[in-house]
Amino acid sequence: MATLNRKLRVLLIGKGGREHALAWKLRQSPRVEHVFVVPGNAGTARDLMNVSSINHPATDNYDLLVKTAQDLRIGLVVVGPDSAIVGGIAEYFWQAQIPCFAPSKAAAEIEGSKSFAKDFMLRHGIPTAEYKTFTDFHAARAYVESIEHRFVIKADGLAAGKGVIIPSTKGEAIRALTDIMVNQHFGTAGSTVVIEEFLEGQEVSVSTLSDGTTTVTLPVGQDHKRIHVGDKGPNTGGMGVYAPVPAATPELLQRIKTEILRPTFEGLRREDREFVGLLFTGIMLTPTGPKVLEYNARFGDPETQSLMPLLGPEVDLAEVMLACIERRLHEVEITVRTGYACNVVVAAEGYPGQYRTGDVVQFSSVPTGWWSRLQPNYQQLKMTNTFGANCLIFHAGTKLVGDEVVTSGGRVFTVVGLGETLLEAAAKAYEGVRSINFPGMYYRKDIAHRALKATE
Ligand code: AMP
Ligand code: GLY
Repeated sequence: MATLNRKLRVLLIGKGGREHALAWKLRQSPRVEHVFVVPGNAGTARDLMNVSSINHPATDNYDLLVKTAQDLRIGLVVVGPDSAIVGGIAEYFWQAQIPCFAPSKAAAEIEGSKSFAKDFMLRHGIPTAEYKTFTDFHAARAYVESIEHRFVIKADGLAAGKGVIIPSTKGEAIRALTDIMVNQHFGTAGSTVVIEEFLEGQEVSVSTLSDGTTTVTLPVGQDHKRIHVGDKGPNTGGMGVYAPVPAATPELLQRIKTEILRPTFEGLRREDREFVGLLFTGIMLTPTGPKVLEYNARFGDPETQSLMPLLGPEVDLAEVMLACIERRLHEVEITVRTGYACNVVVAAEGYPGQYRTGDVVQFSSVPTGWWSRLQPNYQQLKMTNTFGANCLIFHAGTKLVGDEVVTSGGRVFTVVGLGETLLEAAAKAYEGVRSINFPGMYYRKDIAHRALKATE
């Protein structure tokens, strides 16, 4: 077990912007000697001191990952992606007595099965959209034909963020049901579907650290799920997040804690699914109060890229995660900076559909190797508690080819701006975006539009 006076080696699993941001915060922990990211990206391979990406033959082979952790004498494993968490990766490390920051397979079912999550909310009186669950296509179709209100169709299992359909017509709904239930577009993830009422309102992302009993909720974020300006076009994994969200007032946050978070963690504990890790709750702020859209048993992406820089500079993330695992979260203090973080996702042409890869990225005013220069600057900022004219660039779908950064995924970078005001944070993020260039790069130009409009 790691102790304060021993240097800690961390194994971080994943390759997105979320993992680059976690690596950035983890490496600032005074006790962390090195963060190994499997498989990581060009950012974790090169940008950060004491961080490296390691090639691994099979990141879905959990036995092999345990062996890698043992060989590297890892003292803390952190898991990013939902598939590994829902697949039960945590138990593999626990069995090998390696501390792992991820909920158990039983707790992660809250993300892994939408019908389980909906029934759980019903059992514990947690506000959510009215719903029905179907395993038979004909029954689902008959139900859709019989209702008059707007509704949403959800494949039960993990579907890489594509399993939620918001149909505009009944024809579209029946085509979607056919694709999911008959043609099995998402495999077995679609053998059960949830059909629920469409909720109106602003959507917020609530991230809560938990050791099973003690919980700490981080600043509330707002993502922009659709690909195009004005929230048009298909859903994506998320195109930009700002935090904190002014619409989530202290009173509303208190309601979210009392009506949603407390019964969720208590309910999981009572059902022998104690949740240790980070719970992401997607919530719609409806005219009749906050209602749960979904739970995720993991850090949000790109929520994490805004949350990590907002954590107080003295927050030791490795210690916080170990405290969760060791059921002593009440012992650590988690502070948050004043001001705002706003991030903008830079995507490849074609995303969220088939997207281009293999393009070389040029950085203009932010030259390669700039991290080492930004880091002391950032330390300076921490002392004065004011924000300089800088931004953070977290890599996602990138890889190193020789000395060049080459695109290799749909979401390629997340650029984060920090500011005393939201406008300043957004302006810095967009300033940072302009320093990146590759053929077909795409980003939304209206991140934080709701909050900025409200302050005009
Ligand atoms: P989910 O994966 O369940 O969060 O769904 C993906 C996205 O679909 C959410 O982030 C919302 O933007 C939207 N969504 C899901 N359920 C509903 C609902 N009941 N009403 C309105 N929008 C929804
Ligand atoms: N950005 C939303 C998510 O991580 O699911």
